[in-house]
Amino acid sequence: MTPTTREECAALDAADPLAALREEFVLPEGVIYLDGNSLGALPRSTPARVADMIEREWGQDLIRSWNDAGWWDKPRTLGAKVAPLVGADTDEVVVGDGASANLFKCLVTALRLSDRSVVLGEAGNFPTDLYVTEGAVGLAGAQQRRIDPDGPGLAQELAREDVAVLLLSHVDYRSGVLRDMAGITRLAHEHGTLVIWDLCHSVGAVPIELSGNDVDFAVGCTYKYLNAGPGAPAFLYAARRHHAAADQPLSGWHGHARPFDFTPDYEPAPGVSRFLSGSQPLVADAALEAGLDVWAKADLAHVRTKSLAMTDLFLARAASVGLASITPAEHERRGSQVALVQPEEGAGYPIVQALIERGVIGDFRAPDVMRFGFTPLYLRYVDVYDAATALVEVVESGEWRAERFNRRSQVT
Ligand SMILES: Cc1ncc(COP(=O)(O)O)c(C=O)c1O
Repeated sequence: MTPTTREECAALDAADPLAALREEFVLPEGVIYLDGNSLGALPRSTPARVADMIEREWGQDLIRSWNDAGWWDKPRTLGAKVAPLVGADTDEVVVGDGASANLFKCLVTALRLSDRSVVLGEAGNFPTDLYVTEGAVGLAGAQQRRIDPDGPGLAQELAREDVAVLLLSHVDYRSGVLRDMAGITRLAHEHGTLVIWDLCHSVGAVPIELSGNDVDFAVGCTYKYLNAGPGAPAFLYAARRHHAAADQPLSGWHGHARPFDFTPDYEPAPGVSRFLSGSQPLVADAALEAGLDVWAKADLAHVRTKSLAMTDLFLARAASVGLASITPAEHERRGSQVALVQPEEGAGYPIVQALIERGVIGDFRAPDVMRFGFTPLYLRYVDVYDAATALVEVVESGEWRAERFNRRSQVT
């Protein structure tokens, strides 16, 4: 039952199995943060972990830390900590580079594994996925086709049996639509197509089963729900069955079988390590590790239950002031965000700015989407209730029409 009063929300908070985790985060006074789907909040342990990395590991131990502090193996040890969050085995995930770069590696690798030359993608995907695909198909002499993956086009295109690789976002960055990973992966495989899932908006937001669903490749970023900090390194998953034949295009010395032999010829490492390229941002890795250590204390089933209850609550209050939702009402098709559209053209941006002035931080995505992310590790039900109340007041009062809310910043 969706709560209808603040008291009911407070009662849910009192019974929340995740409640204690909120204490693990720095949350500024007077702010309700609904943008953890873009940049996660700062874990309390991160500053000390990063300071230790800089002052002790780097400052005192210097070059010895490559061995003694496990720097060389960070892509693998951090990958092993990401693995349970995506339903993968620990030797199928590495951390490193960015999501865009990892996507490029997976796309070219998958094209090289197939004797076909079409990449099927979604017309509305996050732009980097489209741009990286353009680059990858250009290099590989392949072609890109784009569809709406939530319509009949997906099955029709796969049935043409010429698609080498299907690339989809598990949760759509704009609408929050959650795709059926199991069904789509199965269908693609039935037609001889490899599948790459972009997990940027689903890792830490919904339970994920990569191995259980036989997914071929996946990438995801860590600065959103995993709370690793701005620009933190991404992760890459490759199913173990593809490791031996995987020929990734950014071959570098960290992916070499024997990097300290310094041989002139490239010989890929035997496992998922072959997807690494060069040196990694180890200061950022320290922050990521602190974020992942908080996740080790969370149960994803609890996260999902709370996320759905929170988005239900917010959707119900938004509907009461006539805001249309492009986020599905059905739980099985919803990620952990709510995307709203105000019928009046151009209203989305100033409404979000008016909310930010009141301390309720969401964001805006062109052309006119107000986006609110729900992060059960550090949000309370009363926060969601209060944020929805602020939204209702901003819309009903018309305060968003003030001139100052229409000044566009570089990042929206
Ligand atoms: C779905 C999706 N894929 C990829 C990216 C880009 O990742 P990066 O800038 O870390 O390469 C984002 C960033 O928000 C995203 O939302």
